[in-house]
Amino acid sequence: MTSPSESIVLKGGSVLVTGATGDIGRAIVTECVQAGAAVFAAGRNDEKLDALVHQFEKRVTPLNYDVTDEKAVKEAFRHIQKHQNQSNVGPLMGLVNCAGIMEEAALSVNTMDGLKNQLNVNFLAPYQHMQLASRLMARHRHGSIVNIVSQVGELGANGMSAYGASKAALTGATKSLAKELAAIGIRVNAIAPGFVDTELTRHFEPEARAKIEDRIAMKRVGRAGDVARAVVFLLSRQSAYTTGHVLPVDGLFCP
Ligand SMILES: NC(=O)c1ccc[n+]([C@@H]2O[C@H](COP(=O)([O-])OP(=O)(O)OC[C@H]3O[C@@H](n4cnc5c(N)ncnc54)[C@H](OP(=O)(O)O)[C@@H]3O)[C@@H](O)[C@H]2O)c1
Repeated sequence: MTSPSESIVLKGGSVLVTGATGDIGRAIVTECVQAGAAVFAAGRNDEKLDALVHQFEKRVTPLNYDVTDEKAVKEAFRHIQKHQNQSNVGPLMGLVNCAGIMEEAALSVNTMDGLKNQLNVNFLAPYQHMQLASRLMARHRHGSIVNIVSQVGELGANGMSAYGASKAALTGATKSLAKELAAIGIRVNAIAPGFVDTELTRHFEPEARAKIEDRIAMKRVGRAGDVARAVVFLLSRQSAYTTGHVLPVDGLFCP
């Protein structure tokens, strides 16, 4: 019989994490490496990618590309495929779509460009990543995809119609793709964080933050590590019979 710590391991395979240069992405890379995975860390900030490589030496391979650039995404997957063949990182068994942007704007002043931008980064790009990752995973009939969505997509939030719609679209794709890919051994789940203390939310005024905190049953905002540990659970064999679900990681938000 395996102990819980033994079964939450990702040894023998690799995981692609987009948004690896962000606060939540960096925590996901850290947890994945600690669980034994080789990680392809994707972002656009060379300095932050270098820091990850430096911290985890040979366990992290940096990939610098814009997730909305379709050609660059295809090139990144060619690199992953080639790298797997050349060195012993193991097959791609995990994809974490974590790259995301959040732009607040009321309907009356929102622009179509703002809407398209969020849909591109938060929905279309993860969709292309799922398409290309699932082709690699299908060869081994094994894989787990985790999409970072948001409680804003589930519950809505004032001034966040574009962001919420982009995340709700990804939630919808998660549920359908879980049904489509289950037969070939690929699971697809999502995590919906509440308010997490990161660069994305740092602009919130203390009063606004206090109001949010007050509505969280656990009386604290989330930390990047809270999300990262849930991601590793969904990537691992520990969740082998779970697919098509959205796991809230929000300290129980009471709207
Ligand atoms: N923080 C929260 O409260 C919260 C709540 C719910 C959901 N989320 C979701 O969690 C995820 C991570 O957010 P975070 O809080 O860690 O934010 P963050 O610190 O701002 O990180 C965002 C990440 O996305 C990457 N990114 C953005 N646009 C990109 C593009 N076009 N191409 C490639 N990479 C791009 C950034 O890369 P570069 O900086 O290298 O460009 C960065 O790594 C997002 O999907 C967000 O929507 C966050």
